Amino acid sequence: MPNTNLTAAMRARNDEFFTQYGDIEKEMNAYLEYNPDVFRDKTILLPCDDPEWSNFTKYFAQNFEEFGIKKLISTSYADASKNYQSNYQPTLFERRQPHFDKKKTTVKGKIFTLDKDTNLDGKIDVDDLQWIYLEGDGDFRSAEIISLRDEADIIITNPPFSLFRPFLAWIVEANKTFSIIGNMNAITYKEVFPLIKENKIWLGPTITSGDRKFHVPETFPLYAASYGHDPDGRPFIMVKGVRWFTNIDHGRRHQPLPLMTMEENLRFNKKLKDVESYDEFDNYDAIEVPYTDAIPSDYPKLMGVPISFLDKYSPEQFEIMGTGDNGLVDDEFKKTPGLTKAFIADYYKAGGKGSYNEGNPTPGIYKNNVASMAYKRIFIRHKK
Ligand SMILES: C[S@@+](CC[C@H](N)C(=O)[O-])C[C@H]1O[C@@H](n2cnc3c(N)ncnc32)[C@H](O)[C@@H]1O
Repeated sequence: MPNTNLTAAMRARNDEFFTQYGDIEKEMNAYLEYNPDVFRDKTILLPCDDPEWSNFTKYFAQNFEEFGIKKLISTSYADASKNYQSNYQPTLFERRQPHFDKKKTTVKGKIFTLDKDTNLDGKIDVDDLQWIYLEGDGDFRSAEIISLRDEADIIITNPPFSLFRPFLAWIVEANKTFSIIGNMNAITYKEVFPLIKENKIWLGPTITSGDRKFHVPETFPLYAASYGHDPDGRPFIMVKGVRWFTNIDHGRRHQPLPLMTMEENLRFNKKLKDVESYDEFDNYDAIEVPYTDAIPSDYPKLMGVPISFLDKYSPEQFEIMGTGDNGLVDDEFKKTPGLTKAFIADYYKAGGKGSYNEGNPTPGIYKNNVASMAYKRIFIRHKK
């Protein structure tokens, strides 16, 4: 298969990962702990969902009364429109409904709503969800879903991986409160990073390392990934680098990181035992800090830290000044417009890999006279 097709196929599959109930519950609990009324009197939209299977719909429907939600809406995407084609079968639940429509089931999305006690059992819960076919396929970019977005106060989902950028832009342009799952590599995307820098969005507190389990369709080719089957036979894969991206406040972002001075780090931080100093970058007026727990408490200028720093970031403690990826930092912090010809020559002389041209914005370091690159660095400084 040509490479582009393979990439497209991988992307299509990555769109069909289904989130665990426990992962949703932990993250929402963190918001509720900080603000018990975070969902009260709110209309919550769960787009790009699959309400018959989705744990998002289940979680919010089950907690509808406890959270004081005004209205819950969740929408699904028509099977015929999906990039990844599995052996679609309408569920027994759908087939048993009087309004089941053989023609519509594959080509129309569905909308589920919950706002009242429809079965008159005295409580509003999952059994009161009502559904109908959408006019269209449920594409979040359609006028139909845009109007649901505009009606909603809060948008929560795990959107298709291949559409993370347009999906986030779709939320931000409408100025909505949200929490969505994405890959941490999205942090330095040029569309995403400026929002992080301006504290308009941040990472959620409950996924900060390791991998996460996602259910996948029955026909999903389970190769080249860490995978398994639940006791009931449902296949899942383990995905690394997953994070919640949100603008809902939580307690962790107001806890400062405990830090040592540079001198204390050099003496006591075991991770730095092979590092002689906090090396200055060749192309930025900043020093390399290879680990978040090695950020010196007493360095007044810019520091380049790994993107995982954002798992610990408190806006009261630090300012985010830029990123080496895409060169998204003010010119005043650039020593040169990018890596110099001489640095790149030294890098390849030292056995460096990859393709770098003069002007590349990756932060470069000389350590013991050997040229190397510091990948995916965020530039921060202490708040004055
Ligand atoms: C990563 S899955 C997550 C599903 C569910 N939210 C969950 O976490 O369990 C993303 C879903 O979005 C659907 N999708 C793909 N493209 C879409 C689009 N343009 N508009 C709406 N949904 C889409 C996929 O088919 C898939 O069902």
